[in-house]
Amino acid sequence: MRALFSVLFLPALAAASNLYVSHYNGNVYSLALTSIPGPQDRNDGSAAVKYTLSQTAALKTCGSMPSWLTFDASTRVLYCSDESGSRTSPGSLTALAAAADGRLSEIAKVDTIGGGVNNVIYNRDDGKKFIAIAHYEGSALSTFPLPLRSNTQALQTFNFTLSKPGAVPSRQDAPHPHEVFLDPTGTFLLSPDLGSDLVRVYRIDPSSGSLKTCPALKVTPGTGPRHGVFWTPGASSPRLLRQKRSLAETVLYVVGELGNKVTAYSVSYDMQSDCLGFNETQALYPYPNGTALPSSATVAEIRLEQPYLYISIRSDHAFPPNDSLATLSLNTTGAVSFQRLSSSFGTVPRTFAINKQGDLVAIGNQASSNVAIVQRDPHTGQLGDEVANLAVGEPGTVGAAEGLSSVIWE
Ligand SMILES: *[C@@H]1O[C@H](CO)[C@@H](O)[C@H](O)[C@H]1NC(C)=O
Ligand SMILES: *[C@@H]1O[C@H](CO)[C@@H](O)[C@H](O)[C@H]1NC(C)=O
Ligand SMILES: *[C@@H]1O[C@H](CO)[C@@H](O)[C@H](O)[C@H]1NC(C)=O
Ligand SMILES: *[C@@H]1O[C@H](CO)[C@@H](O)[C@H](O)[C@H]1NC(C)=O
Ligand SMILES: *[C@@H]1O[C@H](CO)[C@@H](O)[C@H](O)[C@H]1NC(C)=O
Repeated sequence: MRALFSVLFLPALAAASNLYVSHYNGNVYSLALTSIPGPQDRNDGSAAVKYTLSQTAALKTCGSMPSWLTFDASTRVLYCSDESGSRTSPGSLTALAAAADGRLSEIAKVDTIGGGVNNVIYNRDDGKKFIAIAHYEGSALSTFPLPLRSNTQALQTFNFTLSKPGAVPSRQDAPHPHEVFLDPTGTFLLSPDLGSDLVRVYRIDPSSGSLKTCPALKVTPGTGPRHGVFWTPGASSPRLLRQKRSLAETVLYVVGELGNKVTAYSVSYDMQSDCLGFNETQALYPYPNGTALPSSATVAEIRLEQPYLYISIRSDHAFPPNDSLATLSLNTTGAVSFQRLSSSFGTVPRTFAINKQGDLVAIGNQASSNVAIVQRDPHTGQLGDEVANLAVGEPGTVGAAEGLSSVIWE
C-alpha cells in the first residue's frame, strides 16, 4: 500500500485529453492536449502548467463537407454529419470508432437528406439510442436508430416548407434547421430553424423513441435562430428534473444569427398537452453596453457553464485580426448581464466547447482554421490567455463553407 501511495503522488506526470475536429476539406482530425506541470513555482506556489496541442490522426471521411461531430463516450463512437447535398441530393451520416489514442476508423456510412449541420444523440426509456440530424440546406429533420450500420434506414423524416420568405428573404428563403438539442429532462428535442424563425419542439416518445410534434416557439421575425441552450437553477440530474419538472424553473437562451441577439424565454412544462410553453423575458445584443454588433459580425455558438453564458462572435475583429467570445453572467433567476469580450484567437469562431473541468475552452476558428485552447477561471467565468494553438487543415475564405467546422472534447 505504501509503495502504491507514493507512486500516485509522483509529481510532474503528463495528462492528456483528446479533441476531435471536423473540417470542410473532407477530413476528421484527432488532437491531443498534453499538460505538464512546469518546474518553476509561481508567486502563489502553484506550478505553471505547460500545454502542448498536437494532431494525432487525420481521416478522409464523412462525405465532402464534414460539418459536425458528436461523441458517444459509452461506445467511443463519433457521429459525423456531412453538410453536402440538398433536399433532392443526399448528404451523409458517418459513424467512426475513436481509439483511446485518437486513431479513427470508419464503422458505417448512410445516406441522409442533404445539408446535415448538427446532430444529437437521445434515448428512449429502455436506454436504446437514436440520433437526430438538423438539415440546413435540406429543410428537414431526420432521426436514425443506433448503433449505425451501413443498411440503417431513417426512422423519421420531417420535411419543412415555408409559404413565403421571411423578414430576411436572402437567408429566409426556405426552412433552415441549424441545430438539434435536448431539454434538461431529456424528454424533449428542440431545433432552431433559421429560415422559419421558429424553434421546433418535439416530445420523445419514451417507449418507441419516435418524435411527436409539439407547437413550435415563434421567435421575433428576422431573428434567424441558430443555436440554443437550457438553464435550470443548480445542478440536477435529468431523472430528478423529470420527476418534478412542473416545479423546475427553466430558461431557454437562443442566439439568432440574423438579428444577432440572445433571447431568453421562461419555459413551462404543460402537463396537459405534454408540450412546452415559452414566454420571452429578455432580448439583448451580447455586446458591450448592449450595443449592436458591427455590421460585419454575426453570432454563432452559445454554451453555458453555470452561471455563465458564452457566445462566439464571428468577424467583429474586436481583437485584430481576431474575433471574439462574449461572456455573460446569469443571476439566480437566469437573468442575463453582459460581462466582457475576449479574443477568440483566430477568425470566424464558428464553434467552441468547454472541457468537463470547466477550466479550458477549445475555440474552433473556421476561417483561420485553428483550434485555440484558452484558460477559463471556473469561479469568475473569465476567459484568459491562450495556452495552446494549432492550425488544422487549410484556412478558409470568410463567408464560404471552407475551413474548420467543429471542435469537441472527448
Ligand atoms: C422528405 O423529402 C425527401 C426528399 O425529397 C423525400 O425523399 C421523403 O420521402 C420526404 N419524407 C416525408 C416523410 O415527407
Ligand atoms: C407566460 O405569461 C403568462 C402571463 O403572465 C402566464 O399566464 C403563463 O403561465 C406564462 N407561461 C410561461 C411558459 O411562463
Ligand atoms: C460601456 O460602458 C463602460 C462602463 O460600463 C464604459 O466605460 C464604456 O465607455 C462604454 N462603452 C461604450 C462603447 O459606450
Ligand atoms: C435578476 O436580474 C433581473 C434583471 O436584471 C432582475 O429583475 C431580478 O431582480 C434579479 N434577480 C435576482 C434574484 O437577483
Ligand atoms: C490572435 O490569434 C493568434 C493565434 O492564436 C495569436 O497568436 C495572437 O496573439 C492573437 N492576437 C490577439 C490580439 O488576440
